[in-house]
Amino acid sequence: MASPSDTLTETLYLASSGPEVTQEIGKVLGRESRPGAIYLLTGELGAGKTCLTQGIAQGLEVPGYVRSPTFVMVTRSIGKLTLHHIDLYRVEDSFEALDLGLEELMYGDGVCVVEWAERAADIFPEESVSISIDYGGSETERSINLTAPAGVIANFRDALEEYIVA
Ligand SMILES: Nc1ncnc2c1ncn2[C@@H]1O[C@H](COP(=O)(O)OP(=O)(O)OP(=O)(O)O)[C@@H](O)[C@H]1O
Ligand SMILES: [Mg+2]
Repeated sequence: MASPSDTLTETLYLASSGPEVTQEIGKVLGRESRPGAIYLLTGELGAGKTCLTQGIAQGLEVPGYVRSPTFVMVTRSIGKLTLHHIDLYRVEDSFEALDLGLEELMYGDGVCVVEWAERAADIFPEESVSISIDYGGSETERSINLTAPAGVIANFRDALEEYIVA
């Protein structure tokens, strides 16, 4: 049975044919981001979460963004908005994630991008955009699915039109 929240959530199904395309998709997200936007990235090792984040950084006009070393769990960079790049790979549960000070970041004016968000799924607000990246049929294909409240998805739909899978 559908719960009330089902009717309010929408998913955009996107296809990426290579890392450059994933970055372009990220760039759109970065450009269209409002203060306080939260992107929850899930997907296996090497799926492309960091690649998408690099695109988001470009879209936010963060100069010279480089991939953060994996042992640093939270990095901050300044663009049009502040980008908080959070990697929860080494986090066991929600309590450990909160110890990183995520709450303050999530309810601030910056943009939060969280890799391995499933490690602490229950701490994120409902307006967050969940993005799953899955391997496709070939080495460079990926399915990128964005799920969020319909009103949030509406902000991205036109700008992502060319990547939407019919
Ligand atoms: N369509 C694609 N989109 C993104 N990356 C791709 C794609 N096709 C191939 N790749 C390659 O996959 C790798 C993705 O690496 P990336 O570090 O972004 O993954 P990740 O999901 O962040 O992994 P981790 O879980 O280790 O943090 C890169 O080497 C990239 O070149
Ligand atoms: Mg990564």
